[in-house]
Amino acid sequence: MSAVYDYGQWGVELKRNIRDYWWNSMTRMHENIVGIDAAIFMHPTTWKASGHVDNFSDPMIDNKDSKKRYRVDHLIEAYADQLEKDGQKAEAEKVIADMDSLLAASDYDGLKKFIENNKIKCAVSGTCNWTDVRQFNLMFSTQLGSVSEDASEIYLRPETAQGIFVNFLNVQKTGRMKIPFGIAQVGKAFRNEIVARQFVFRMREFEQMEMQFFIRPGTQKEWYEYWKEERMKWHLSLGIPAERYRFHDHVKLAHYADAACDIEYDFPIGFKEVEGIHSRTDFDLKNHQEFSRKKMQYFDTEINQNYIPYVIETSIGLDRSVLMVLSEAYNEEDLSTEERKDSRVVLMFPVKLAPIKLAVLPLTKKDGLPELARELMDICKPKFKCFYEEKDTIGKRYRRMDAIGTPFCVTIDHQTKEDGTVTIRHRDTMLQERIPMSEVSKLVESHL
Ligand code: GAP
Repeated sequence: MSAVYDYGQWGVELKRNIRDYWWNSMTRMHENIVGIDAAIFMHPTTWKASGHVDNFSDPMIDNKDSKKRYRVDHLIEAYADQLEKDGQKAEAEKVIADMDSLLAASDYDGLKKFIENNKIKCAVSGTCNWTDVRQFNLMFSTQLGSVSEDASEIYLRPETAQGIFVNFLNVQKTGRMKIPFGIAQVGKAFRNEIVARQFVFRMREFEQMEMQFFIRPGTQKEWYEYWKEERMKWHLSLGIPAERYRFHDHVKLAHYADAACDIEYDFPIGFKEVEGIHSRTDFDLKNHQEFSRKKMQYFDTEINQNYIPYVIETSIGLDRSVLMVLSEAYNEEDLSTEERKDSRVVLMFPVKLAPIKLAVLPLTKKDGLPELARELMDICKPKFKCFYEEKDTIGKRYRRMDAIGTPFCVTIDHQTKEDGTVTIRHRDTMLQERIPMSEVSKLVESHL
């Protein structure tokens, strides 16, 4: 059960905040994009039509001694990483370039020879005793129906996109949508990843946030560029600097695409894909029309023509975004002074993504301070996520909040009783200021 994860109480808040931020930016900030929530179970023919039954596979190779199975590209990439670590940067780049051209040509014999010629070894057995390179389908299947003889095999969706395609006309007609328009969806996807590693980077059950943008055929190049730029703007709006991102154009295009690129983020494990932008042509709608024998056409009143729209897709992994935001936020700070050693772990999340926005901390458990703190909680709780805590010294409570990325802590002390002011402490600078308790909610909201 590797590559299957549960999120705890703060992880789920972080994930939800990222999802809402994406959802709102798609469906609120773009007036021509609406959302749907399609079922995970879909008619099995959907996956025939989409090409996933025939094409959604990865080239794999097995080591005959350890019986361990590898994705060919991961095996070669790990070899290139090692070369780079050993100071052979040019050789590493050549390995990747050679691999890319072999993959692009689907030259599986060539890939096997390449692995053997470079003496790439299995990490478990340490040998070069490899099988041929073979293709493995990544879809999970299960049975629909209660009696096994009657059951028919269905697939757990490997992408959320197909739920959007099969609903294209429902949404277009009921919403009187005019091209260009988009349909967005967030939901679970499942892939039987053979090599599943690196925490929530590559999972077998994960969440995608996808948007299909339906356009007039022939305009795909300009819309592809538009969405590349638009999505990069979204990433930068998370407060992550531009140098932590790069575009990577695909050499080997997926079976549905005529152009595709990844937005890569500089994870602690190096630059890796976090989002894909794909020009999917009319591949999906055309095939759904053929397999379902239902027209998937749109009548464009501006040019008086019927056509199957082309599609630009933006597809970002929610779990991978969580890992990106976590990696970017994580800081270890040395706060030692001459008198004493000190350090802290702090997650510097953007306020809008932080699991908890405000911690309310009465200095003591008595003298009416908890009652005042509860008053503040009651004002703030309906507006944003708050956390109340009485236990331990204020210093310890601050550090605990730093470690889960809470941007603001408010301390209620005896002075609060006299003049209605509180101390607000800022996570990143650790600066503290005295402000009226009545202004706390406004201050936090101004950062959202
Ligand atoms: N509908 C297009 C599509 O699914 P993809 O590049 O295969 O394209 C899109 O996946 C995004 O989904 C990736 O950029 C990545 O963020 C996320 N993703 C894909 N496989 C994943 C996995 N096994 N675990 C976590 N996230 C994954």
